[in-house]
Amino acid sequence: MRIHFLTPFVKMVETVITESILGRAASKGHVVYNIHDLFTFADAPHYKIDDYQFGGGSGMVMKPEPVFRAFDAVMKDIPDGVHSRVIFPTPDGKPLKHALAMELSLEENLIFINGHYKGIDQRIRDELVTDEISIGDYVLTGGELPALVILDSVVRLIPGVLNSYESAQTDSFTSGLLDYPHYTRPEKFRGYEVPKVLMSGHHKMIADWRLEKQKEKTRERRSDLWEKYLASQEIGVKNG
Ligand code: ADE
Repeated sequence: MRIHFLTPFVKMVETVITESILGRAASKGHVVYNIHDLFTFADAPHYKIDDYQFGGGSGMVMKPEPVFRAFDAVMKDIPDGVHSRVIFPTPDGKPLKHALAMELSLEENLIFINGHYKGIDQRIRDELVTDEISIGDYVLTGGELPALVILDSVVRLIPGVLNSYESAQTDSFTSGLLDYPHYTRPEKFRGYEVPKVLMSGHHKMIADWRLEKQKEKTRERRSDLWEKYLASQEIGVKNG
């Protein structure tokens, strides 16, 4: 997969990528990153990438020209027929869910356009963007962190990126339930003990205990997921 960032904060993106599993994914040859500095696509002599908004109102808006030019430069290198998704992280986008991360992990090209200031010129969203994605109901100062969150959720699902012990197979959400509790050595720590069943060596009992904990946690914390899980179980029973 080839991943492009169009951003005014190149260092920030580079640092997170090189210091994380995202960087390891590139070393292993699963992904290639191209980080494009939006300032280099702005007009001399001031290289401005933002401006006041028409109609008044506080906050600057990202100008269309640098983004369209950077986008054209990226598209020139993508051969005809190779599919791309153009992602704009924004609080008013579609919520990021495991299923969307799965879908994006199958793409050949992801292009992230990172907004800043009050927002970006609507023509960028109308003409270039295929996916507007929100990482939650809160507002961050810019698009880089949400873009990196989206990217991390996608790249870890590419087969081979995670080692088997980090496997995404048993993640929360893969099964529709939240994850079960995990323990490691020591068996006793400050008076707290590891549940006996995990030391039993009895695979069926351990699997049952874990499933029970998953259900308990999901029922208590996420009634939305719990309802969906119950409905899926009923369908499973009906279909035999
Ligand atoms: N940009 C600022 N806040 C955001 C959010 N919650 N999700 C995605 N992009 C954002």
